[in-house]
Amino acid sequence: MRAHQPADIAHPARFGDGAIVVCEGLVRIFKVAEIEAVALQGLDLLVEPGEMIAVVGASGSGKSTLLNILGGLDVPSAGRAVVAGHDLTQMGRGERTRYRREVVGFVWQQTARNLLPYLSAVENVEMPMTLDGRADRRRRALELLDLVGLADRARARPERLSGGEQQRVAIAVALANEPPVLLADEPTGELDSATAAEVFALMRRANRELGTTILIVTHDPLVADQVSRTVAIRDGRTSTETVRRTEIHEDGHRTVAEEFAVLDRAGRLQLPRHHVEALHLAGRVRLRLEEDHVGVWPDDAARQRAEDARERADAARKPPADPAGQTPADATEERR
Ligand SMILES: Nc1ncnc2c1ncn2[C@@H]1O[C@H](COP(=O)(O)OP(=O)(O)OP(=O)(O)O)[C@@H](O)[C@H]1O
Ligand SMILES: [Mg+2]
Repeated sequence: MRAHQPADIAHPARFGDGAIVVCEGLVRIFKVAEIEAVALQGLDLLVEPGEMIAVVGASGSGKSTLLNILGGLDVPSAGRAVVAGHDLTQMGRGERTRYRREVVGFVWQQTARNLLPYLSAVENVEMPMTLDGRADRRRRALELLDLVGLADRARARPERLSGGEQQRVAIAVALANEPPVLLADEPTGELDSATAAEVFALMRRANRELGTTILIVTHDPLVADQVSRTVAIRDGRTSTETVRRTEIHEDGHRTVAEEFAVLDRAGRLQLPRHHVEALHLAGRVRLRLEEDHVGVWPDDAARQRAEDARERADAARKPPADPAGQTPADATEERR
């Protein structure tokens, strides 16, 4: 365990101390022709060094926006984002370029976007190291291709490689400068499920053997088995986290998945949609603090009041019955 230094006393613990990825109240607003789209609205996320997590969520929920910010390709409109000690809201151009080359590796969904078509596999892996001026880059590139199981395809250009092979080379490229963090945006989106499983297994291996912290955006349910934590994003905020752990029982191992919600600093909480729908929660809910938990109930009294008010409004809108006891609807029927 780390001994407390006097500096720790001078700087009391901050949100995310010890985490390698810290997002706090992250906001990203896109403005297109005077119309604002809020892609991230106060997202909180902490990732510990050496974790491998999956980021899931409906289309348009803000997953790519988050990854682009963490990759130093985009800048948040508000909030805090810190990766491996680099504050992404404060970086100048020079630091940003270095950050993209040394601190984060990126793998995209489109296989063609990851590799330069006119370079061989090994030259592609060497490329990021060339910019860094590393002397032993050929040897290291070959080692990385070996790690991803493609040592024998080193001279092949991307067009001669299958989609899965291209993504494996892309992982080698992303790891070339030994970044502490690897970001992958739907890296298996264009692959069949067997090839996708190979690519995930490879990421798992990089995570275990190199200690790289990995964030994978995915729609693939297969991923849940490969990661210890799945973070769900809804409407630009972290909604739930599913943590998987293995329990040892007399009759063997069992994987247990537990769902968590994320409380922000102001104490706000987003309930999972299926909880809200199951109990018809809406508007105000009733809360009770118990010794070791907080209970949430539908506010029946409020719901009754709302229903009564609706009924009164409906009644007030109905035209009065005519003296013969016919409603206008009856009258219409008779005239036919
Ligand atoms: N450059 C941009 N300009 C304008 N709006 C954008 C831009 N990028 C993203 N958006 C909007 O921000 C929201 C979040 O988009 P984002 O691409 O992050 O979603 P996503 O979760 O990655 O979706 P998908 O699963 O389809 O890839 C969407 O409403 C999208 O239209
Ligand atoms: Mg996306």
